[in-house]
Amino acid sequence: MKLLTFTRSLATQAAKLPNIKTFKIYRWNPDTPEIKPTMKSYQLDLNQTGPMVLDALLKIKNEQDPTLTLRRSCREGICGSCAMNIGGRNTLACLCKIDTDSKKDLKIYPLPHMYIVRDLVPDLTHFYKQYKSIKPYLQIDESKLPERENIQSVEDRAKLDGLYECILCACCSTSCPSYWWNQQEYLGPAVLMQAYRWMIDSRDTATNLRKEMLQNSMSLYRCHTIMNCSKTCPKGLNPGGAIAEIKKSMAFD
Ligand code: SF4
Ligand code: SF4
Ligand code: FES
Repeated sequence: MKLLTFTRSLATQAAKLPNIKTFKIYRWNPDTPEIKPTMKSYQLDLNQTGPMVLDALLKIKNEQDPTLTLRRSCREGICGSCAMNIGGRNTLACLCKIDTDSKKDLKIYPLPHMYIVRDLVPDLTHFYKQYKSIKPYLQIDESKLPERENIQSVEDRAKLDGLYECILCACCSTSCPSYWWNQQEYLGPAVLMQAYRWMIDSRDTATNLRKEMLQNSMSLYRCHTIMNCSKTCPKGLNPGGAIAEIKKSMAFD
């Protein structure tokens, strides 16, 4: 009995020992452009920090360095604003667990190959412009407007599963080598997956127009099926697969 109590007290003591981990974070301030981007180190006791990378970033911002700049809103993988490159992978900081091995530093960068607004905040203006270009809303030929609700069968509705859940975080597009090199013209996996989402919506009558828009050498066909996009998606979606479906339908339908 005594031994058990002793072991328990040792375990409690061990649990209280600080577990210090170093976070190396990309910093760049547009107000001092003469200073090159740097990696700044911060240390946190993981026993005093929440489990996710977003918890660590907010603790650093609140307690050590209020100038650290990042985007976040929902903290539950819904808004897509905390997308960044964590430990070499594009993902959402709020869904990414901190590796508790304190011997390993954790490096955090903004999404790669993007213009940076400041620190961990990428400029998504062009990304959203590309999204707007695919007309991401229902288009219906006036002459085909139904008199009552625009009904969709259960089977047709199911075709949208795995597509509509996209939160436009841009993790996939910014992990795609083709997007890195041809960003101005290639639409990238996130936007193409949304183009496909509207193409296969049984209520939409603009499918041919949507396909025509992609019928050029750059918008769609820069995808070489490398599949980085699907590997990195923090929502478990398959934009690479959606692009393959568009290519199939362009070739055969
Ligand atoms: S497909 Fe996944 S990674 Fe790409 S924007 Fe949508 S949620 Fe983000
Ligand atoms: S499958 Fe296509 S979109 Fe996805 S990473 Fe590869 S080239 Fe990019
Ligand atoms: S804070 Fe909204 S997805 Fe991470």
